[in-house]
Amino acid sequence: MTPVDQPNNPTPSHATIVLTVTADGEPASSIEQAAAILRAGGLVAFPTETVYGLGADATNPAAVERIFRAKGRPHSDPLIVHIAEPEDLPRVARDLPATAQALAARFWPGPLTLVVPRGAHIPALVAAGGDTVGVRVPASQVARALIRAAGVPVAAPSANRFMHTSPTAAAHVLADLDGRIDCVLDGGPSAVGVESTVLDLTESPPRVLRPGGVTLEALRAVLPDVEGPAPSPTTGGVARAPGQLERHYAPHTRLIVFDAQGSPALDAMRATAKAAHQAGERVGALLATGEAGALRDVLDVIEPLGEGIEDISRHLYAGLRTLDAAGVDVILSHTFGTDGLALAVTDRLRRAAGGMLTAV
Ligand code: TXA
Ligand code: MG
Repeated sequence: MTPVDQPNNPTPSHATIVLTVTADGEPASSIEQAAAILRAGGLVAFPTETVYGLGADATNPAAVERIFRAKGRPHSDPLIVHIAEPEDLPRVARDLPATAQALAARFWPGPLTLVVPRGAHIPALVAAGGDTVGVRVPASQVARALIRAAGVPVAAPSANRFMHTSPTAAAHVLADLDGRIDCVLDGGPSAVGVESTVLDLTESPPRVLRPGGVTLEALRAVLPDVEGPAPSPTTGGVARAPGQLERHYAPHTRLIVFDAQGSPALDAMRATAKAAHQAGERVGALLATGEAGALRDVLDVIEPLGEGIEDISRHLYAGLRTLDAAGVDVILSHTFGTDGLALAVTDRLRRAAGGMLTAV
């Protein structure tokens, strides 16, 4: 049994409507139709600049409960509340620290989630029973138009089955959730490709719980004392980000990620690919486009991610899904360092590989 195929998940029960919209949110009638589903307590998957979210009215506990059921997600993992405008933050939070204002002014709309004290209108279910709430204003015009039209804050985790690879296109959402949700708003591929940075403002100094689309360097330019993510959520006792499981974002196929770049990484991949072939296995790899030529002779399927960390981030999850569907026995990749956006990419690769990087 795979991690995303658990017996407590209900079987598909009804048709999922697919509505296609432009990046500007046209036609408005489709946004309005999806918003009406949200207002009625239904589930709508929608594009954001990071990944697709699975949305429900954050003020309606029955609707929020449907998110957990559709994903097969445990209630111990809190949801991010999405709002259309930074000015709406006081509607979902209380006792806001002064830092929230400065960060919102600099990074919203954008891929930054602020963990702040939870407001009275947000049910405990959204926050895994806790007293805080994660909030963000997505940069996607489609997402903001949907939230505005719904007229309510929208709770939304990534629109994948629990522990599986996050979706960066409507087709990925349907592959995981067709028949389990009411609607998918298809606004094209996500531009950033990894999830938002989650920053906890309820402790001092503020700490990054999950690296993501806003870099640590950019956060420190506004708040110099921001602490980076703990090296592993299991070090130091209690996990500080409840959803940060060491195995997460995972393809079904075995994934080996070498913790190196350049020729040491490519040499390790070559040796492993050769050994796998000798054992009769088919081998796939996720590589920067410029690296593909060096290993073409020892790989069965190559998924080029582009050049530069922004391209690699944008194509990472789609590449994992493509290789997962390609029928290979093992997928090989390597880390891309820890500067800027690479911190998030390396974090996702490690978790997708079961929480472990392979030393070279
Ligand atoms: O980019 C994103 O953040 C996407 C899009 C859809 O907005 N959403 C997303 O949601 O990645 P999800 O549920 O897959 O991941 C949310 C992460 C989890 O690790 C969760 O534990 C953490 O944020 N989180 C949410 N609320 C929190 C809270 N109150 N305290 C601590 N961590 C929180
Ligand atoms: Mg997720």
